[in-house]
Amino acid sequence: MRYITTPIYYVNDVPHLGHAYTTIIADTLARFYRLSGHKTLFLTGTDEHGQKIEQAAKNKNHSPKEYADKISLEFKKLWDEFEISYDIYARTTDERHIKFVQQVFLTMWEKGDIYKGEYEGYYCVSCESFFTQTQLTNGCGCPDCGKETKLLKEESYFFKLSKYEKDILKWYESDPIVPKNKKTELINFIENGLKDLSITRTSFEWGIKIPQNLNDDKHIIYVWLDALFIYISSLELDKKSENLGFLPAFVHLVGKDILRFHAIYFPAFLMSANLPLPKYIAAHGWWTKDGEKMSKSKGNALHPKIIADAYDLEAFRYFLLREVPFGNDGDFNEAMLISRINAELSNEFGNLLNRIVGMSLKYSNGSILQDEVLNFYRAELNEANLHLQNALEFIENFQFNRYLEELFKALSVANLSISKYEPWNLIKNNEASKANALVSLCANILAKVSILLHPTLPKSTQKVAKALNFEITPQIYQKLILQNSLLDFKASACEALFPKIEKALLSEEKKEEKIQMPKIKIDDFAKIELKVALVKECERIEGSEKLLKFILELENGETRQVLSGIAKFYKPEELIGKQVCLISNLKKAKIFGYESDGMILSAKSGDKLVLISPRELVESGSLIG
Ligand code: MSP
Repeated sequence: MRYITTPIYYVNDVPHLGHAYTTIIADTLARFYRLSGHKTLFLTGTDEHGQKIEQAAKNKNHSPKEYADKISLEFKKLWDEFEISYDIYARTTDERHIKFVQQVFLTMWEKGDIYKGEYEGYYCVSCESFFTQTQLTNGCGCPDCGKETKLLKEESYFFKLSKYEKDILKWYESDPIVPKNKKTELINFIENGLKDLSITRTSFEWGIKIPQNLNDDKHIIYVWLDALFIYISSLELDKKSENLGFLPAFVHLVGKDILRFHAIYFPAFLMSANLPLPKYIAAHGWWTKDGEKMSKSKGNALHPKIIADAYDLEAFRYFLLREVPFGNDGDFNEAMLISRINAELSNEFGNLLNRIVGMSLKYSNGSILQDEVLNFYRAELNEANLHLQNALEFIENFQFNRYLEELFKALSVANLSISKYEPWNLIKNNEASKANALVSLCANILAKVSILLHPTLPKSTQKVAKALNFEITPQIYQKLILQNSLLDFKASACEALFPKIEKALLSEEKKEEKIQMPKIKIDDFAKIELKVALVKECERIEGSEKLLKFILELENGETRQVLSGIAKFYKPEELIGKQVCLISNLKKAKIFGYESDGMILSAKSGDKLVLISPRELVESGSLIG
């Protein structure tokens, strides 16, 4: 039985390429485990508590729960559109999870692994992580993400992490960390001495309260202790005892930034809660864009759906797994994606199917018999089988790029055999049985590759199976992959797989269009009158969430009424007495039934609007330009 998980994603932000990467890897593995006969359980979901989410919700004027509901649904919708084969979509705001975490807290407390004290140190809200002053970079920067940390001094419950140092190191001897080289970093970290971990916070509210029996309900359980136990709470062991077989978990997939939480804190928590430790924690690297880490604030985050819509979801899945060795960072490069689609998916894979179907329809009415393959092409078949066995080993060891590379080497054996033996000439020379055996060799290689490629390209490989008339099932996997058998096929015409991509399809040009507004002459600019105005009055407009109504003062005491859509970002009373910038010669307009005589300028920052005002007070009505 194999239990596989993705991290549960924070709901402070919508899904991006990095999230899709982990989820697609996990989906590929889950599909592979099912195909290779393992009873499999695949969990993904969202991480919804903590200060970071509380703040994000506040910035958007939502309650944390409303906000979490909205973003969690966005993740779920994306995974459903991507046909991610998860079995459990778990949320930390689920009641069963909340109860479970409180129960675990109590178990640890009763075991004597938790004590009360006071935490003094630094906290990074973005990473939801504690640091000592000596760990900080550039003054008070977080050593992991570089953002500013906050000094905390608050009453806190502590977990005796230090008690588990030796046990964690002992667990590492069973090689649970993938890739293996990451183990050294973790060992160094532990050997520097583990400090007990603050596991409750009191300075915000959005989280799971510590158990009632402790009579201390201002304490919220640390979001990582809460989140990590989702992997266990979701099994609902109290109700679904058959799920016990899924423990220990087979693999928790994570990004390298959260390896420490999974490979140091989590095993200690599990030991304390008397639960078994996972077999593997597998950590992948980061995707960057043009060499820079992707993030919303930098504006370089790629939305997975845009890429998948432009290039085909399966090509996108293939690229993510094939492009970078698991554990390394990788740069998202559109040209590379196109080249892999054209040279590999289209040329080696799609084209082989076309050739097989075309030849078999021509030579033998679509019937492809395996009886003479070994007579003529034993060496080629052995070579292909060797690549398939390597591929199998690589996927079992989380080396996805090499697994795919080996499968494409097997396809090359078929494609090169066609060029080498030229079946069309064999037919001409009355060697039909040799020609038909060659078609069968290629069809068998393509079928075997398709079975092993199925977890990565579920739909395209089904198209191959349909065109050659076989099924992709655990039974066929056993036969063709494990027992090296051959099959007979019956080919029928099919559409081409992975048509060639002629030009880049991502919205690069569109982006440029936006940035490259048409150039204007100075006289065009001169037509716009920009002035500084003083806010005399400001109020909300009943029935509108967006609009504020301003009375502005210009030169010589002139006043005018202007409406502006910034009500979500400013309270009217905080704007009175402030100066704003105004397009003052705009034709009057009626908005929401009110006259508006001008336009107040603001800058768009993400989803926010920020008013623009002069750095120093100037006279009302001063010209800008
Ligand atoms: N909520 C925690 C995980 C708790 S698991 C009990 C969390 N969430 S996250 O949304 O910030 O990140 C989730 C995963 O996305 C992490 O594994 C992280 O490594 C991955 N990625 C986020 N950005 C990434 C890239 N740019 N590239 C690759 N993966 C990265 O951490």
